[in-house]
Amino acid sequence: MLFDSHTHLNNETYDDKSRDKVIRAIEASDVSYVMDVGFDLASSVAAVSHAAAYPWCYAVVGCHPHDTKKMDETTLTLLAGLAKKPKVCAIGEIGLDYYHDHSDRDTQQYWFRRQIQMALSLKLPIVIHDRDANQDVLNILKEEGVFSKSRTDIFPKQSDGLPDARLLMHCYSGSRELAEQYRKLGATISVAGPVTYKNARKLVEVVEAIPIQQLLIETDAPYLTPEPFRGKPNMSPYVEYTARRVAEIKGISYEEAARITCDNAKRFFNIL
Ligand code: NI
Repeated sequence: MLFDSHTHLNNETYDDKSRDKVIRAIEASDVSYVMDVGFDLASSVAAVSHAAAYPWCYAVVGCHPHDTKKMDETTLTLLAGLAKKPKVCAIGEIGLDYYHDHSDRDTQQYWFRRQIQMALSLKLPIVIHDRDANQDVLNILKEEGVFSKSRTDIFPKQSDGLPDARLLMHCYSGSRELAEQYRKLGATISVAGPVTYKNARKLVEVVEAIPIQQLLIETDAPYLTPEPFRGKPNMSPYVEYTARRVAEIKGISYEEAARITCDNAKRFFNIL
């Protein structure tokens, strides 16, 4: 039982044939749940239709910081409509990307805030993309009230009694200190394939420091392929290798790591 908490079946690099191949591989694997994550309007529409078509597929809708240059009020309204469709579990992936700067930073910040406000009013979990923008992401989340009592009161507390802000730091790549700060504020941390890489010292420290109850695993496929398949296109069944590495770091069995991270994701995304 595995839950790939972040993938892009909706990625434009797939044609129908290559997507079908991935879908067949998922259905033949131990993966029980896949979260197809939107990055603009068209990919969000595709994620919702994949969720309707496959029992193991769920959707997240929103506009990635790269694509905020295409955003306008109409698109935001359409995304809010999509968010109310069956099996849509969160708003994402939203955030800031100062590494690529594909959209200018003011535009990224403006639509990040607007989509946070949308998630708060819809009372939905939020999936964050943060690349080289740690401080601005944290400041904006705080300013917009993601960690406020009125937000955390909606959700049951975490197992250790901390508040739960239903905020997921997708493909986490920051420091252990920042991860711990987020955890105390009520965030959940998701780790992807890079945790399997030889130079993953920083990410290993994060996995060591964060209780397994606050960890999710993901592929971010078709990107970030874990070892031993690094260099090939990624797909959800390879989330197994991230689960195996997390199990090793935590000193638990693979089966336990798979089951606990699956339960965590189901809880995070409100899947019964
Ligand atoms: Ni992604």
